[in-house]
Amino acid sequence: MSGPNQPSGTRICDRCEALARCSEEPEALTRVFLSAEQRKADELTRAWMREAGMSARQDQIGNVVGRYEGAARHAPCLMLGSHLDTVRNAGKYDGMLGVVAAIECVSVLHGRGARFPFAIEVVGFADEEGVRFGAALIGSRAVAGTFDLGLLESRDAQGVSMREALVRYGLDPACVGNAARRKGDVLAYAELHIEQGPVLEAEGLPVGVVTAINGASRYTVDIDGLAGHAGTVPMKLRQDALAAAAECALAIESRCSREPDLVGTVGRIEAAPGATNVIPGFARFTIDVRAPHDEQRRAAAADIESTIASICCRRNVKVRVRQTHEGRTAVCAAWLQDQIGQAIAAQGLPVRRLPSGAGHDGMAMIDLVDIGMLFVRCAGGISHNPLEAISPGDAELAARVFLRFIENFRPAPGRR
Ligand code: GLV
Ligand code: MN
Ligand code: MN
Repeated sequence: MSGPNQPSGTRICDRCEALARCSEEPEALTRVFLSAEQRKADELTRAWMREAGMSARQDQIGNVVGRYEGAARHAPCLMLGSHLDTVRNAGKYDGMLGVVAAIECVSVLHGRGARFPFAIEVVGFADEEGVRFGAALIGSRAVAGTFDLGLLESRDAQGVSMREALVRYGLDPACVGNAARRKGDVLAYAELHIEQGPVLEAEGLPVGVVTAINGASRYTVDIDGLAGHAGTVPMKLRQDALAAAAECALAIESRCSREPDLVGTVGRIEAAPGATNVIPGFARFTIDVRAPHDEQRRAAAADIESTIASICCRRNVKVRVRQTHEGRTAVCAAWLQDQIGQAIAAQGLPVRRLPSGAGHDGMAMIDLVDIGMLFVRCAGGISHNPLEAISPGDAELAARVFLRFIENFRPAPGRR
């Protein structure tokens, strides 16, 4: 039932496909912060924004920002968006769907000549996943005014610092603070995103309202052992860094399996020197711990840190644990949950409320303004995987819900 004055699921999906072609690998989708592929994706996104009646610019951290003016110029905005970066070997919808669907909604409003007492801004955040520098939510933290300037010195796997990467991208690291928005200028932040889990599909529902985003802690752990000859050093006398890392990974799995809703992942592990006949003298791995309650997550993270210390002490290897990310649980504002719920009900659908196990830009935006999220069903709950899939019909329905939410948006009580 799409038409010139309704969102098109086919166009949304086609645009996600077009963004997926901006990748550093020909056969897979990987697009990290401040890369040549980001530049291509940004150019496409800005062109779609202009076509939808918005002005479009890049801010000082590399986010793409489109603005559709309200009835009066300089009105505060309803901010919509999601991220344009991806994990390695990613799906095509995590992040991109929220940016493209928001542009689609504005395009429909523009076609109808609609103007509101508020402006609408659509942001394509430059880095939510944290793949390149370890720190996540970089784009949204800059907008929320909580970007830690110390991060400019962090380095990617090639040794390039964020400061250098910004300069190479044509941005001035001294101006990152200018990406921050003033509290009064943004009325709310709302994001449409695939669920990345199986709940909606299992219940036969295309969309749901997010209640809260689970908090997350991330670490990088370096272990120094002693490289040696794989044939001559007896097992008892070894200082094998990789074996220590492996024991730590299993301890993390065991600690996080003890409580429902607590999850812990070692997503990356490397060892050096990396030869069949050499005992690994060095190992590095990452940890990602999440839970719906901050106390639960912090208690688990503290246990994990002390278990790693005792494993490494017993194995006579040196260990350094560095925290790379800390995101508190972010509760979606009740008034935004209600307005998103009303937009779902207006489509004749049941209003299913559910928490998000995955992290989102709202975790940073909540320091600036109240946040709300609309989830869209995805196939098999699969995400962070090239098999990630949604149907054009669900994309269209979700965009209709989002459009209705925008059209009926009323600022929080007290801000009207
Ligand atoms: C982002 O997708 C995250 O939850 O890691
Ligand atoms: Mn993701
Ligand atoms: Mn995402």
